[in-house]
Amino acid sequence: MGSLKNKHLIGLEHTPAKDIQKLIDTGFTFREVLDRPIKKVPSLTGKNIVNLFFENSTRTRISFELAEKRLSADVTNFSASASSVSKGEGLKDTVQNIHAMKMDCAVMRHPVPGSCLQLSKFVDAVVINAGDGTHEHPTQALLDMMSIKEKFGKLKGLNIAIVGDILHSRVALSNIYGLQKMGAKVTLCGPPHLIPRGIQKLGVSVNSDIDEVIEWADALNVLRIQRERMGVGIIPSVREYRDFFGITQERLDAHKKEIVIMHPGPMNRGVEIDSSVADGDQAIILDQVLNGVAIRMSILYLLLGPDEGEVG
Ligand code: CP
Repeated sequence: MGSLKNKHLIGLEHTPAKDIQKLIDTGFTFREVLDRPIKKVPSLTGKNIVNLFFENSTRTRISFELAEKRLSADVTNFSASASSVSKGEGLKDTVQNIHAMKMDCAVMRHPVPGSCLQLSKFVDAVVINAGDGTHEHPTQALLDMMSIKEKFGKLKGLNIAIVGDILHSRVALSNIYGLQKMGAKVTLCGPPHLIPRGIQKLGVSVNSDIDEVIEWADALNVLRIQRERMGVGIIPSVREYRDFFGITQERLDAHKKEIVIMHPGPMNRGVEIDSSVADGDQAIILDQVLNGVAIRMSILYLLLGPDEGEVG
């Protein structure tokens, strides 16, 4: 079962380029399904999927649940705050219970890097990483790449900048792996202390001058600045961050060039991105959200669906 090299989707570091290509291509097929009057196909009828969210999520959680229902799977939701985890139950006990319930697939978000890999060792079910701490967020990077491909018709040869707190970002790491495998060039931009030391060994370049980066890039993927890191010596103030790295309308207008603006959400409007930019013509942020459902249908279908055959 499954038409990809790996049984699980833990990260893009170990996902071959041909599988990334297949996931994106199949994502476009499911985009067509989402444009139909009846947006549901029987591909995963009889499959049981559990969504395990040990950390808050809006987009990823809703998007997975919608994707699973569009594929006719049976869906169970689990959130840490509403479970026995709050009574001290550990991850292993929780997953063993889920295993006993004979789930076919577990989609998990967890604050601990490596937790999805750990889970995959405890259960027979297919494991999909919905974000594990500061490690990877592969489904976000796949939807980002699908959205770039939709806009430009290609990924190869494009210049993509990722702007913000790279050090704490799982979105950044998955995009770095994925984009480069698909032939794009990646530059990271942010406060120097929020760029991991030695990250260039992954093949990316680093430039802390946002105006030079805007001049170079075809698209900017603007990351959320985590407010919990402000005022504790990591980011001195909102105003200072916005002055040096904020994607403001004035800053974009000064460059007089076409550029695509992306953001994985949730956004801090007025900090890393202005509302006029987020809601403006250059932004594809809501396309990313729609493509998120299609790419998650693609991931579930290719990991759990029939080996070959047409999407219903
Ligand atoms: N982009 C993203 O992962 O958003 P959520 O935290 O709302 O799922």
